[in-house]
Amino acid sequence: MRIVRSVTAMQRLAGDWVKAGVRIGLVPTMGCLHDGHLSLVRRARQLVGRSGRVVVSIYVNPTQFGPREDFARYPRNLAGDARLCRAEGVDVIFAPDDAQMYPRNGDGAEFSTFVVEERLSRFMEGKSRPTHFRGVTTVVAKLFNIVQPAVAVFGAKDYQQAAIVKRMVRDLNLPLKIVVAPTVREADGLAMSSRNQYLAGELRAQAPVLWLALQRAQAAVRKAGRPIPATRLKADLCRFIARAPAARLDYVEFFNPDTLVPARSVARGTHMALAVFLGRTRLIDNGRL
Ligand code: PAJ
Repeated sequence: MRIVRSVTAMQRLAGDWVKAGVRIGLVPTMGCLHDGHLSLVRRARQLVGRSGRVVVSIYVNPTQFGPREDFARYPRNLAGDARLCRAEGVDVIFAPDDAQMYPRNGDGAEFSTFVVEERLSRFMEGKSRPTHFRGVTTVVAKLFNIVQPAVAVFGAKDYQQAAIVKRMVRDLNLPLKIVVAPTVREADGLAMSSRNQYLAGELRAQAPVLWLALQRAQAAVRKAGRPIPATRLKADLCRFIARAPAARLDYVEFFNPDTLVPARSVARGTHMALAVFLGRTRLIDNGRL
């Protein structure tokens, strides 16, 4: 396994593979890898086969963090990540630094070209984190151009992110396929996340509240047997989440899984997503009802 740190070297290596007809599978991450990330790596290997190459990018992308978010303290552990990737048979870790990804030009000017998705980004995470998806689409577009994958694998854990990346690929005719893999959870239902490292003691104990809220909504839809007004289900879930004393609800939303447009009534097939603060840590989760 190679660790490549320069954009030019990665682009040259990938270009040689593409010329030789080798299929590249990319798993974009911000590192501090867990079993959720590794499930995407395995999926990428399945998709490109033994003759293909699997590239994991590890880059904590500053442009997708808001000014009051956790960019500076986001967990980083390249040595541990490299061990996990090697054990999974990853071919290359692409781990650039900020100077590689967002170079200052000779005249001192900042990086100034962004990719912006304008419709799906308006909802949910986009509302709570206004510049987040612009950072995600920009860095993901850059990674696609550098690594030149035939297929890139994303997690359903970040459902809106995957939908936006798919839309970008379609709208800009990018020549690759996006595959979305299921959310991997801890035994108590908490979706795996690098940010779970921030949680200890009471906060960790209350963290399954997102998963429990999803299950509660699923049960309500099943039991009702007909559409439920979104306002009523939302009110019930707000009360339910408030029972976890450390939890502060950011949003809970019901929406059409394709358009992400909010649903007035909730039925089988409606999608639900929520974001909850536990102390300073913001957790998200989602699922089909
Ligand atoms: P990161 O949070 O590191 O996640 C990298 C990929 O792993 C994403 O596609 C995410 O959805 C997936 N993932 C995270 N937790 C998962 C879980 N429990 N089960 C399944 N998949 C999971 O998402 C990002 O990084 C960044 O925004 C990125 C796309 C790399 C752009 O910077």
